[in-house]
Amino acid sequence: MSKKTIEQKWDAQHYDQKIGYVSQLGVGLIELLAPQPGERILDLGCGTGDLAQQIAQRGAVCAGVDYSSAMIETAKEKYPDLSFRIADAEQFRLEEGEERYDAVFSNAALHWMKRPEAVIESVGLALRPGGRFAAEFGGMGNVGAIVGALTNELERIGIDWKTRFPWYFPSVGQYTSLLEQGGFEVHYAELYDRPTPLGSGEDGLNNWLLAFAGSLMEGIEPETQQEIAENCAAALKPKLYRDGEWIADYRRLRVMAAFHQ
Ligand code: BEZ
Repeated sequence: MSKKTIEQKWDAQHYDQKIGYVSQLGVGLIELLAPQPGERILDLGCGTGDLAQQIAQRGAVCAGVDYSSAMIETAKEKYPDLSFRIADAEQFRLEEGEERYDAVFSNAALHWMKRPEAVIESVGLALRPGGRFAAEFGGMGNVGAIVGALTNELERIGIDWKTRFPWYFPSVGQYTSLLEQGGFEVHYAELYDRPTPLGSGEDGLNNWLLAFAGSLMEGIEPETQQEIAENCAAALKPKLYRDGEWIADYRRLRVMAAFHQ
């Protein structure tokens, strides 16, 4: 395991090079979205733009927004023909003169947003009546073993992890109720296990922690962070490490809904 310090930041290069599976595994959601030529589609939490580009390749006009300036900067460099801008999905509003979208797409982003009612309101305000919302993100029980190992470690060193827990992993019932309250008709919702190979061999878990666990590690000395990462790896190895690769216990919530208000 490398000796890098774990801290929360969106590093676009690390995202593309070490955790490229985040976008690669979102391709199936594009099938559910079924973008049509000429449709206007918003990718909410677009990261470095790979899925927005794939949607655009199907003939749709796809714009991407992300909270991270590093992600947007890289997306613009990679796909200069597409439109990207920085925006917080919990407060996202159309710009003056911007037409409503035919669909909003979101892969692996909504679990970072702790105010789902606000996000759903933003999505509704961005959609034309009848417009669709196709989303996939971490659902109830997502990365349960990893969360268990990490929170055990934080408790061991006296950290109150509940106040810094960065993720929202709802059940089907919780999320579809919020969608209905927000003016959506839910056409499809599924919570499913998606064991996810983390790549990079022995380093896969550490790369995941470096990318995603920064806010849980905030303020902890680098040596202690390293110890936590090593203890997590030791605790998780019997369950999540097979044939030289880490396989994370992802559970995805996938939804398709139409806006009708
Ligand atoms: C996810 O994609 O499910 C995920 C990623 C990072 C942290 C937690 C969940």
